[in-house]
Amino acid sequence: MDFQFTEEHLMIQQAARDFAQTELKPGVIERDEHQKFPAEQVKKLGELGFMGMMVNPKYNGSGMDVISYVLVMEELSKIDASTSVVVSVNNSLVCYGLEAYANEEQKQKYLKPLATGEKIGAFCLSEPEAGSDATSQQTTAEDMGDYYLLNGIKNWITNGSSASTYIVIAQTHPEKGSRGINALIVERGMEGFAIGPKENKLGIRGSDTHSLMFTDVKVPKENRIGDDGFGFSFAMKTLEGGRIGIAAQALGIASGAFELATNYAKERKTFGKPISEHQAIAFKLADMATEIEAARLLVLKAAWLKDQGLPYAQASSMAKLFASEVAMKTTVEAVQIFGGYGFVKEYHVERLMRDAKITQIYEGTSEIQKVVISREILK
Ligand code: CAA
Repeated sequence: MDFQFTEEHLMIQQAARDFAQTELKPGVIERDEHQKFPAEQVKKLGELGFMGMMVNPKYNGSGMDVISYVLVMEELSKIDASTSVVVSVNNSLVCYGLEAYANEEQKQKYLKPLATGEKIGAFCLSEPEAGSDATSQQTTAEDMGDYYLLNGIKNWITNGSSASTYIVIAQTHPEKGSRGINALIVERGMEGFAIGPKENKLGIRGSDTHSLMFTDVKVPKENRIGDDGFGFSFAMKTLEGGRIGIAAQALGIASGAFELATNYAKERKTFGKPISEHQAIAFKLADMATEIEAARLLVLKAAWLKDQGLPYAQASSMAKLFASEVAMKTTVEAVQIFGGYGFVKEYHVERLMRDAKITQIYEGTSEIQKVVISREILK
């Protein structure tokens, strides 16, 4: 067993760390406050090769491994989880889903510009009445011969207005349940496709979350991913990898808050000494460090399994479940260590605390991760 990163991993980690400090940190409070999408930053991340990190270079990707991806996700998320969710959805839900399951023509047409970051993708599964209960899809894709007629509403879609390429999950054969569902590639601008207003969110406020409306949208048959009825399996398999990205995001939020709290505790003095020398604070830092390290090991294990081509559904759900709980707990403690300053925006920890919450909700709530883990254990 080898716990060392390669030289290449360390270089990629450093590049992401530098990018987060120089490109993300300066405007992060303003983007959060005004719900401003990090368009310029995402463009630069594309130039660095971070928007299609694991995609084969023949489809314009960077050909990196999953370990590299989680290292980048952690570094970006320490500073700006609004930007890192854009990176995560594009890499692990859209690019991975297309590379693993789309046909050659679809990869040439849709994957290539997504892998460079020239275009951004969105993954559209959730609906007003189908969040955790994802098989209850109300959006329909009626088979009209050479096209599908798409009707319905999708909710809470990350990259909702910034994307150009949308993977939309919809029901074609309701009598077949989850086996009647399809995944369709929908282009922005297709007639009948409308984007709803931006959600005003608690956290990750720089990312754009929208509902999407489809009214008699004609989606060509050649835009279906995989065989007829493959859509639900496609969504579940893709989410298995997506959960590693969100676990890494949660890990980054936790380690970002921990770094801020540790530095502050060494500087801030009360009762004649730095607060880090009071056991009440030192023990908090010890707990935070231990839990973050445990989360990191789970995240890296899931990434390693995926890199090895081994099953990783259980590992990715465990990593997401644990890392998101650590993110929530650590950020609350970080605010506590900062005291009154922690409640003020310029010290960053209150934003990290707000951002942490979504990691327990999207790409499957903590309860859904327990469903996946328990099923894997018991099967
Ligand atoms: N891989 C392949 N197939 C799978 C699968 C997997 N991981 N998991 C389930 N399936 C298949 C099953 O084998 C079954 O197929 P058969 O009928 O042929 O046997 C079918 O899918 C239905 O499976 P279940 O009976 O297990 O379905 P269920 O209704 O019990 O639900 C669930 C399973 C795990 C709860 C699932 O609904 C789920 O993951 N829900 C959460 C959805 C989610 O994560 N949403 C996040 C939205 S995306 C997002 O947040 C992105 C973003 O913007 C950041």
